[in-house]
Amino acid sequence: RIVFLNGSFIPYDEARIPIMDRGFLFADAIYEVSAVLDGELVDNEAHLSRLDRSLTEIGIASPYSHAEWVVRQVELVRRNRLVEGIVYIQVTRGVAERDFGFADAMSPTVVMFTQVKTILESRLAVAGAAVITVPDLRWARRDIKSVGLLAQVLAKRQAAEAGAAEAFMVEDGFVTEGGSSTAFIITQDGVIVTRPLSSDILPGITRLAVLRLAAEAGLRVEERAFTVQEALRAAEVFYTSASTFVAPVVSLDGQPIGSGRPGPHARKLRTLYIELAR
Ligand code: PDD
Repeated sequence: RIVFLNGSFIPYDEARIPIMDRGFLFADAIYEVSAVLDGELVDNEAHLSRLDRSLTEIGIASPYSHAEWVVRQVELVRRNRLVEGIVYIQVTRGVAERDFGFADAMSPTVVMFTQVKTILESRLAVAGAAVITVPDLRWARRDIKSVGLLAQVLAKRQAAEAGAAEAFMVEDGFVTEGGSSTAFIITQDGVIVTRPLSSDILPGITRLAVLRLAAEAGLRVEERAFTVQEALRAAEVFYTSASTFVAPVVSLDGQPIGSGRPGPHARKLRTLYIELAR
């Protein structure tokens, strides 16, 4: 397995990061995940734009241009012979003696690796996902793709213990988003509803593509927050992310959604998204 560390492609076993790296000590770092399908990056430009935005928001100068990132991502995919899975990018503020304050001129740590993942034929997509709800315990800048993911790690742990694939996070009765995905419902009269962009949620790249596809398919779309109660009464529920595409939800907190099987709109949107990705 070959990984990318600070400009070099090296075997995973040889990759070393100093314990004083601020990513390790403070989660002073951001990340990005792009899917790979048939050996090709999916919607990657949009992911790189969000990467730039995350870096800007925390004041790290982008180490590479889009073109420079792509060359490195493609090279990593090639060296690992990745056909289906993800490319992970992480940029930390760099290495310095532990101190909350940081110098302006730090050199960032850049890490990239690939992971094999079954996206197309995933069991989730065929059988649908069980989801639980948990309180959203995160900070107030969820629009930044920060590696500070402890709230999500614990939410996912709770989900796994309940036999669920994802946790929808809830604030003031409204669903914010999934632990690592964007949450959607389809109302009984066929309106697709998802939360509008704000600092409450990550601006999902798959979210944007799916909203476009839904509009093109003539489906009605409303960007507004929805409650857990509304989700429980919905015709369909689904979630989106780079690593799952469109995942139909068949139960929420143990209660079946709709027929208790993947819904027709979610399945249609999944098919449309896969066509677009290819
Ligand atoms: N997670 N919301 C959160 C909190 C996420 O972590 C993610 C993605 C999304 C969906 O964004 P996108 O469609 O751009 O992948 C929404 C990635 C896959 C991860 O953490 O592995």
